[in-house]
Amino acid sequence: IKRSFSSTSALNRQINSVTVIGSGLMGSGIAQVTAEAGYSVYLVDQNDTALNKALKTIETSLTRSTKKKFNKEPDHAVRYIKDTMDRIVTTTKVDAGAEKSDLIIEAIVENIQAKHDLFSKLDKISPNTTIFTSNTSSLPIAEIAEAVSRKDKFGGLHFFNPVPVMKLLEVIKTHETSDATYRTLLEYGLSIGKTTVECKDTPGFIVNRLLVPYMFEAVKMYERGDASFQDIDTAMKLGAGYPMGPFELIDYVGLDTTKFIVDGWKKRFPEDPTFQSSVVIDQLVAEGRLGRKSGEGFYNYK
Ligand code: CAA
Ligand code: NAD
Repeated sequence: IKRSFSSTSALNRQINSVTVIGSGLMGSGIAQVTAEAGYSVYLVDQNDTALNKALKTIETSLTRSTKKKFNKEPDHAVRYIKDTMDRIVTTTKVDAGAEKSDLIIEAIVENIQAKHDLFSKLDKISPNTTIFTSNTSSLPIAEIAEAVSRKDKFGGLHFFNPVPVMKLLEVIKTHETSDATYRTLLEYGLSIGKTTVECKDTPGFIVNRLLVPYMFEAVKMYERGDASFQDIDTAMKLGAGYPMGPFELIDYVGLDTTKFIVDGWKKRFPEDPTFQSSVVIDQLVAEGRLGRKSGEGFYNYK
């Protein structure tokens, strides 16, 4: 059955139902692109406020993308949005989807203990055929997989923000991920229209291992007083052709997530001068200025 209007999407034979846990910036986007590809999706978070916000974000994003896609067929746009939204079931009960899903994508807070607690619970309630994945930005997948016994069915699916727009998916295999699991993850990536790249299970994989040190070099430059953060952003956009300057990007990723990433790496590699925390970021996070998602970070979005 062709359940999606997208010509690039095709249902993955191994996977019908997907549970996405964490409905924030990333989880909402992952649920959206997965539902657009025709999968049925359970989207899980800790409370209804977060889930309702996620549904709103998804609807806005679909409205935006379908405007162009179906600009001569507004009826198709309406149907496409409805069909996609109908494939997403939101719930605060992690068991609801875990018991039925073939694939679980974790996108909760970047904290190893929280991820271990979640996966150890999931390992008990999910069928033993269910594949587990994490969207972690910075933690080794094998370390997250320590909480489960199905290590052959555990891999990394690292998406980029905004998920509906960014075309890349990093697909990560640990030394224990089976070839069959890895193939299924690659097929899933293609079925949602992403270009996949492979990378060893190293902290930050490809993109973040390059991007995060760049963002922190920019913050250090600002802390030294070499230039204003606005001018650093203008310089990198107009002088290097980046779509966003580093401070806009930190605001976009979330200052809390950026802080979790670098704090974790600093602990892991204490001798490496690349991974030093930032006074300015620590202070902004303490003030609750987490970037776009909280309405204020380096810039004000209110
Ligand atoms: N949903 C759907 N469509 C969206 C969207 C969303 N959330 N956000 C933007 N778009 C669409 C717009 O509708 C527009 O589409 P058309 O071209 O078809 O009209 C297109 O994307 C461009 O959007 P805008 O014109 O509004 O703005 P822009 O040109 O500045 O692009 C951007 C926005 C795509 C976010 C661009 O600024 C960009 O690429 N920024 C860098 C993002 C980036 O580097 N992300 C990676 C962060 S690191 C990470 O994710 C990993 C990690 O672990 C931390
Ligand atoms: P976010 O703060 O926007 O959302 C996290 C969501 O997870 C929140 O809604 C929170 O309520 C929920 N949550 C926390 N613990 C939970 C639990 N135990 N069960 C269910 N829900 C729970 O964060 P985000 O930016 O979406 O990041 C999520 C993950 O994706 C992190 O591991 C992050 O490193 C990674 N990531 C982030 C980006 C980015 O640009 N922000 C990009 C790629 C990967």
